[in-house]
Amino acid sequence: SAAQKGGWDSYMDKEIHEDPQAVADTLLGRFDTNGDLNLDEVRIDPETFRQIDKIIIVACGTASYAGLVAKYAIEHWVRIPVEVELAHEFRYRDPILTPRTLVVAISQSGETMDTLMALRHAREQGSQVLAICNTQGSTIPRESDAVLYTHAGPEIAVASTKAFVAQIVAAYLLGLYLAQVKGTMFRDEIHQIVDSLKVMPEKIQWVLDTQAEKVARAATSLVDAKSFLFLGRHVGYPVAMEGALKLKEIAYTFTEGFAAGELKHGPIALVEPGEPIVVIVPSSRGRDLLHNKVISAIEEVKARGAFVVAVAEEGDPDAERYADVVFYRPACPTLMSPLVDVVPLQLFALDMAKNKGLDVDKPRNLAKSVTVE
Ligand code: G6P
Repeated sequence: SAAQKGGWDSYMDKEIHEDPQAVADTLLGRFDTNGDLNLDEVRIDPETFRQIDKIIIVACGTASYAGLVAKYAIEHWVRIPVEVELAHEFRYRDPILTPRTLVVAISQSGETMDTLMALRHAREQGSQVLAICNTQGSTIPRESDAVLYTHAGPEIAVASTKAFVAQIVAAYLLGLYLAQVKGTMFRDEIHQIVDSLKVMPEKIQWVLDTQAEKVARAATSLVDAKSFLFLGRHVGYPVAMEGALKLKEIAYTFTEGFAAGELKHGPIALVEPGEPIVVIVPSSRGRDLLHNKVISAIEEVKARGAFVVAVAEEGDPDAERYADVVFYRPACPTLMSPLVDVVPLQLFALDMAKNKGLDVDKPRNLAKSVTVE
């Protein structure tokens, strides 16, 4: 009913607008009075935790892209390898699992069979399994050694939105906690990152308040596009994949998300005049060398007639100069940018689907949770 949708046209509308709350609630109650991380629910003893020398994240769909974002952060902070594996591929490749491996199963529903089978395999091999999950008491957290709940609230729309940002936050908390326990970072550094996480809800809200109209206009002008390419680098790469997935799922548009550096190794052959390409542009501040590389990718595709939609930092002069449309993010550290950059892409998919008259909450052929392998 309309009341359940909080006055919005669809659950997906409502849930995208709950992105800021999902981030805020997932941070809530995770710190002690000194500001140190205190993850009570993670009932793996500190000594076992300190010994962890590798993380393997297993997940499907949107949750796997949240895992891919977290890989960049956790490797940087904790200095241990983090692999991200689609859950259905995991056990069939005979992965290397030891008691010092932490397998992190990310799942909104906690019922995805592929992910469940992956974690069962990991436990049989003697590894520690931690679930990042949005559903209290569901199967995946019940069968794990530990759980870190995302507090995004119930997600009804089939296409995942607010759970994605909450999963990134939870995985970041896990990474920072590991860094704290292992002592791979200074306490001040951890506190600084936590502070930058805590302001993200406001920044997401800013995107919702100021960019939605521009996104809607772009979706109107692009409604007839037959296909889209999405590209990004570093943490912008999984964001591009997630943006592409949203558009496939609910607007039934053929999309491919890929790493911007890969453009010249294949996908550029697809670029024809008028082809819409969505590009996640890293910040140009500081030492971020990737900014220029992504801008050159835009120049490359523009030279071949592409229509470029950029997601870039507010005031980025290059994005403004080369892209046809720019959706802005407020300035934030690179590792925080996925939390804001995904928002216009969620809105864009929603608007595209609405423009096509589709049922955004119940896309054809898909289920909210896939309980078969
Ligand atoms: C299904 C849903 C996706 C979701 C994936 C993983 O395919 O349609 O939106 O990302 O399952 O779901 P989970 O509940 O494990 O996060």
